Amino acid sequence: MPLDKTPIPDELRGLRLALLVSGGVAAYKVVDLASALTQAGCQVRVAMTPSAMRFVGPPTFQGVTGNPVLTGLWPADGAPEPHVWLGDWAQLIILAPATANVIGRIAGGRSDDIVTATLLAARCPVVIAPAMNDAMWSKQVVRENVAALRHRGVTVVEPETGHLASGHVGTGRLADASKLLKAMAEAVRARYDLAGRRVIVTAGGTRERIDSVRFISNYSSGKMGFAIAAAAADRGAQVTLVSTAGHPVHHGVEVKEVVTADEMLEELRADIKGADLLMMAAAVADFRPAKAAEGKIRREDTPTLTLELESIPDLIAALGREKDAAGVFRVGFAAEDSDLAGKGLEKMKRKGLQGIVANDISRKDIGFGSDHNAGVVLFSDGSSHELEKMTKREMADRILDLVVPRLPKH
Ligand code: CTP
Repeated sequence: MPLDKTPIPDELRGLRLALLVSGGVAAYKVVDLASALTQAGCQVRVAMTPSAMRFVGPPTFQGVTGNPVLTGLWPADGAPEPHVWLGDWAQLIILAPATANVIGRIAGGRSDDIVTATLLAARCPVVIAPAMNDAMWSKQVVRENVAALRHRGVTVVEPETGHLASGHVGTGRLADASKLLKAMAEAVRARYDLAGRRVIVTAGGTRERIDSVRFISNYSSGKMGFAIAAAAADRGAQVTLVSTAGHPVHHGVEVKEVVTADEMLEELRADIKGADLLMMAAAVADFRPAKAAEGKIRREDTPTLTLELESIPDLIAALGREKDAAGVFRVGFAAEDSDLAGKGLEKMKRKGLQGIVANDISRKDIGFGSDHNAGVVLFSDGSSHELEKMTKREMADRILDLVVPRLPKH
């Protein structure tokens, strides 16, 4: 696979790319591809089936990529949880060459080696490049397996006609590098519509101190904010999640933990310059104790307690007036129990936002703490979009589907 005249498309630069190799003679051709992608700035990690290792040794791929090669399903084989690690890590997976055997196993949902397990655990676009004997390629069962993979969203780069290892001339040669790279770039363009963008998301309810052990807060779990952060990172954004809640680790999301509204504002101010999008899913308190007590307030000393509360400035509205946030597309979230669209519109205008997601907190089956949500998304261009009940992760993607086309072009 000579790559001399084939430039690496810009879309692929900097990407976390998993190159999966199965056992065909064309395995030697993808060594060059791994090397060229690494030199172009991709982070390339290779996984190989046992048969692939009979054609090319893992040290060859390790040498050209600078990364250890995953060769099996056990922790000693190159990662803490090899069966899911690479699929979780990768932003794009390319399987080349894809033999008839591995295609059949993927189509059947198998996960009995590191290549099939990685594909089953994948969250990113997958491009496969079949290469095999022409008689195998023409078999009905292989065609059906390939069609099933296409139907599930896999991009298939068809093999070419030419001299085959068997000595025949027929269709089954691994497609050349330029076709593979073009298909990879297209898969990236379609999926990573936030590539090159910086997104800040806030999540969770702020905690406002009463004394050293008590605080005022609200029921926000931070799940919606985390879902948005994860969805934005999966679409290629560099994401900062400013949150009061603990969250699972997600590739591409940097978590900054805060407690109070003041800390949240400070963190936002530190990060906002140059950001493209602020998604303000946090439930920021509106009031806080005017003065937090030193130490613990004791019942014996204070038989009745009156708290004086002062109001907290509106963070998202305040940021909108600051120079560093000029040009940042600001989307707020409004938890409402009636007239979602009306109240959402009023809040969006009052806070000078470009968009707002109003969700219904009157329903027991969605909202605070739940894994589901529903609501209406409004934009300052006057458009309004109802979102029926769905998981918070699905809702995060539907919201981003609406927001991304409205972001100012770079
Ligand atoms: N918000 C904020 N700063 C605050 C309060 C709210 O930035 N002090 C943001 C929230 O993060 C959210 C949006 O404003 O994105 C709407 O929050 P909401 O609590 O519904 O609005 P309020 O202005 O507090 O109105 P309400 O009186 O209905 O609570």
